Amino acid sequence: MSNTLALLGGTPIRTKPFPTWPIFGREEEEAVLRALRSGNWGRLAGKEVETFERRFAEYHGAKHGIAVVNGTVSLRVALIAAGIEAGDEVIIPPYTFFATASAVVEANATPIFVDVERDTFNIDPAAIEAAITKRTRAIIPVHLGGLPCDMDAIMAIAQRHGLVVIEDAAHAHGSEYKGKRVGAIGHMGSFSFQSSKNLNSGEGGLITTNDDVLAERCRSIHNCGRIPTGAWYEHHVMSANYRLGELAGALLNAQFDRLDEQTNTRDANGRYLDKLLSMIPGIAPQKRDDRTTRNAQHLYCLRYDQGAFGVPRERFLEALAAEGIPASGGYGIPLNRQPMFLEKNFGPYSGYRSARPDIDFGAFPLPNVDRICASEGVWLTQNVLLGTRADMDDIVRAVEKVYDQRHALSGIVEAAGASA
Ligand SMILES: Cc1ncc(COP(=O)(O)O)c(C=O)c1O
Repeated sequence: MSNTLALLGGTPIRTKPFPTWPIFGREEEEAVLRALRSGNWGRLAGKEVETFERRFAEYHGAKHGIAVVNGTVSLRVALIAAGIEAGDEVIIPPYTFFATASAVVEANATPIFVDVERDTFNIDPAAIEAAITKRTRAIIPVHLGGLPCDMDAIMAIAQRHGLVVIEDAAHAHGSEYKGKRVGAIGHMGSFSFQSSKNLNSGEGGLITTNDDVLAERCRSIHNCGRIPTGAWYEHHVMSANYRLGELAGALLNAQFDRLDEQTNTRDANGRYLDKLLSMIPGIAPQKRDDRTTRNAQHLYCLRYDQGAFGVPRERFLEALAAEGIPASGGYGIPLNRQPMFLEKNFGPYSGYRSARPDIDFGAFPLPNVDRICASEGVWLTQNVLLGTRADMDDIVRAVEKVYDQRHALSGIVEAAGASA
């Protein structure tokens, strides 16, 4: 086979697509029909959501599971259940989806952004410690891409300072930290079942916890402030209807049966890619150590070194795409520098004013996340990790090929630059 890059007219490493997502069959059809024909389409009368809550919580070593409409609301409900309010500070990473931060603002609190570790992409415990003030109430570690955060260090900090830990496990269904599933290591865990996620019902979310009091509060907040002993039209706390519907619950029950095997496949492929890709100069896979006993690999992340390849990340991604490997640069803007934060467009949620009226979100010094967003981060999505060993070999061969042919690639960049 020609070694010329496909981008420059050579033969691509592959033209075959990777597995598509979602994966479903007769089981999902039957489950949705079961819910449909039951006539109980809402959470209150049916059994699908209740069954799923129990199964999913158990799977994550949690005593309670409260299903809600999405993984943003699950964060919001968890924060409110924890008593977070105006003037409080919540420490979060800037390398995550918008929801981690917007949920804090919607709880009327102030998100305090601290840097991630450059090698794991996860929140840096030392940076958490350094950001704690007398107003700090909670930490939201995000298990980025499925890689568990340093939960020992985070829980020790939380204990020392009396903080609540809400794990954002939207990427981490079934991930394990030292043999324990994420979501019940902190005080609460938050999951998303939005369509791209490793377990999905189109939209959906869930809170896990081992704490009876927090569970009761979450249940009340997700159900219009009702309490188990109250009358139907009796409402005790500020809340809303955040309940998940039965058709989504049925779909989740069927998809859940596939989760464990799919997670094992992604985990094994992730380990395989780690071993081979780390041998290529300029490629550093997201660092996983022995404490990660299983990685859900919602994303396969790596750091790309432009210095080693001689071309910007975008050119590398183009070359990979031409070889048949779909990769992206991931989050391009650190969350604290999103227009919403720069302009403080918080609508009615002005709780930050009572604590930090002059806060400049864009001014947090976050060098690692800046580099990862601007030039280093590269992602493959979870469906790619469901491929075969031969598919993984294609990924490795494509990256090797781009590295070997990097001079040809940079030649084009220089020529384009010269003629511009
Ligand atoms: C890290 C993270 N947290 C929270 C969410 C929010 O989930 P949802 O889209 O279900 O509201 C997402 C979803 O993309 C996410 O990636």
